[in-house]
Amino acid sequence: MEQIKVVLGDRSYPINIGSGVIEEDNIFLPLKPGNQAMLVTNKTLANLLKDKVFFQLRKSGVKIDQVIISDGEQFKTLNEVEMVISALLEKKHSRDTTLIALGGGVVGDLTGFSASIYQRGVRFIQIPTTLLAQVDASIGGKTGVNHLLGKNMVGSFWQPSSVIIDINFLQTLPYNELISGVSEIIKYAIIFDAIFFNWLEKNIEKILLLDHKSMCFCIKKCCELKSKIISLDERENNFRALLNFGHTYGHAIEAHAGYGSWLHGEAISVGMVMAARTSELLGYLKKSDYNRIISLFKKVGLPIKGPKNMSAVSYLPYMMRDKKVISGEMRLVLPISIGKAKVFSGIDKNVILNAIKDSQ
Ligand code: GLY
Repeated sequence: MEQIKVVLGDRSYPINIGSGVIEEDNIFLPLKPGNQAMLVTNKTLANLLKDKVFFQLRKSGVKIDQVIISDGEQFKTLNEVEMVISALLEKKHSRDTTLIALGGGVVGDLTGFSASIYQRGVRFIQIPTTLLAQVDASIGGKTGVNHLLGKNMVGSFWQPSSVIIDINFLQTLPYNELISGVSEIIKYAIIFDAIFFNWLEKNIEKILLLDHKSMCFCIKKCCELKSKIISLDERENNFRALLNFGHTYGHAIEAHAGYGSWLHGEAISVGMVMAARTSELLGYLKKSDYNRIISLFKKVGLPIKGPKNMSAVSYLPYMMRDKKVISGEMRLVLPISIGKAKVFSGIDKNVILNAIKDSQ
């Protein structure tokens, strides 16, 4: 088992990574025998993985209850949060309870948010089961739900007490969910690490075939990069914003298409292409780097074009509601080379519109 630490003073926590880690002794620390906990998961995972997790929790002496939420981005709403809170109250969970999120980004974000508000905040543990959640969503304490007018518009920063990444869970992941996670992996490489990008260009087939060594390397690499950023800038006052590369455009697609129509990784794949094109049009990113980015997304089978029925101008209202907007000024994360990105403001709207049109 590999362990990476997110260093945040007395809120520091481990990310435990490996095959079969869920079966390791003490994996549920800081939970102790006799502690109360609520497992939050969705219907699909309840059938596939819940029994294993339940067995381990019971073996650790934890008094465990469960709540099953609906499956899909369209259910990442305040309604489902209320369901979790009701289950906690019905089962008389007190302030020392722990919520355990078993699932992808939807379950993790919703559970984390519920934990942050239940009785003014209780502990939670992330057990991400999708590649996307393992490399990104489960780490860093961003929690929340969607609003019809914008993605993740209601939420909080609330760090988990630990993150348990069992690579074996990826074996049951549908292929479109797998490549959706690869999209976030490519994101890290474009914004932070040119050598990692080269490595991905050479090894992407192995990742798609779930080659164990390559997958471990990738997940660990992303967790290391992300934990460093979180330790430096937990509340996104600075460097953390870089992790939103592609998200301003991508969230617009998700909200406009209707949550759940596009997977998050698919939407941000197009978003990254649009951001890269914006940067190229502004003269920052070299054409050759832009082409390498497109080639890698194509190789993976990720979309590089936005929805046909979404006009370029219809992106703008969503983009203006992005959380990076300050005093009415849109801010965009743009790559300036492979391995380096910056936050830009004051970009000419026509350039943004042209970049969107070029990716339709
Ligand atoms: N997923 C972006 C972040 O955690 O900041």
